[in-house]
Amino acid sequence: MVSYKELGLVNTKEMFRKAMEGKYAIPAYNFNNMEQMQAIISACVETKSPVILQVSSGARKYANQTLLRYMAQGAVQYAKELGYEIPVTLHLDHGDTFELCKNCIDMGFSSVMIDGSHHSYEDNIALTKKVVEYAHRFDVTVEGELGVLAGVEDDVAAEHHTYTRPEEVIDFVSRTGVDSLAISIGTSHGANKFKPEQCTRDENGILIPPPLRFDILEEIEKQIPGFPIVLHGSSSVPQEYVKIINQYGGALKDSIGIPESQLRRAAQSAVCKINIDSDGRLAMTAKVREVFANQPAEFDPRKYLGPARDELKKMYMHKNEHVLGSAGKA
Ligand code: G3H
Ligand code: 13P
Ligand code: ZN
Repeated sequence: MVSYKELGLVNTKEMFRKAMEGKYAIPAYNFNNMEQMQAIISACVETKSPVILQVSSGARKYANQTLLRYMAQGAVQYAKELGYEIPVTLHLDHGDTFELCKNCIDMGFSSVMIDGSHHSYEDNIALTKKVVEYAHRFDVTVEGELGVLAGVEDDVAAEHHTYTRPEEVIDFVSRTGVDSLAISIGTSHGANKFKPEQCTRDENGILIPPPLRFDILEEIEKQIPGFPIVLHGSSSVPQEYVKIINQYGGALKDSIGIPESQLRRAAQSAVCKINIDSDGRLAMTAKVREVFANQPAEFDPRKYLGPARDELKKMYMHKNEHVLGSAGKA
């Protein structure tokens, strides 16, 4: 059993309080390997942004949970070495059982998500409450979820959004004791968030997806004023990366994300945490494909993972500065 406090990590309480007050959102970036971790930390140090490092169950299986935890501990030291101390949270993304959340808490995570959104309302409450009771004994913060995002979420596929019902949020938050709430207002996981036929085109022929349901968000804010809201599935799917990937042999189709303007608007509301994973995958894949295509004789992983890491860092800096507004807030 190790406390996150010994590792130099922080929970999300103070981060969210400041984000709410300052009308910005904390970036929650997923990581599975060293290059992603380096890109996240160096981008957040350089932009002086707090950060939430997210580990999914898939990441734990891929990279080994112990290694990931030590990497997060190393990240705190790495940030200091880069010359600026930033608040770093280590967060379990989409925890689906009490045991998984407990395990992460016991090994040094400072925040966990218990995603009971696929259960019945009452089962979601019971499971979330159980995790909260355990987590709060160790000052670990908990994110719950109400509503279901369309698309694939942890091997569970939902064809349509089940938007969060504002009339349920007071009851859910008060009965579970969660510290933040993930909601469904039109975002979804992955790089194919909308079908082209759902979109309109602007004067340059660029596809414009349907807007997020800010009316539902506003209703939720009225029900639980000042309570931290989380947006999952918030990658923007930058078309320049999709273009590079397809130019160099990729086959991405109908890759459409959430426009940055929508996320900027969300970040100024009660949304305090914005989850981004797919955009990082796209940035890395674009660079790796470009290097492979232009330098086919190259076989040193540092020569393709290095440029991928640099591109990733650039993208995270852009998000902190121009989308989430978290730059300068550490
Ligand atoms: O919400 C899901 C995250 O993008 C993590 O994805 O389960 O493939 O690691 P993953
Ligand atoms: P994206 O697939 O849009 O990056 O969402 C990531 C996410 O919500 C992780 O929990
Ligand atoms: Zn998610």
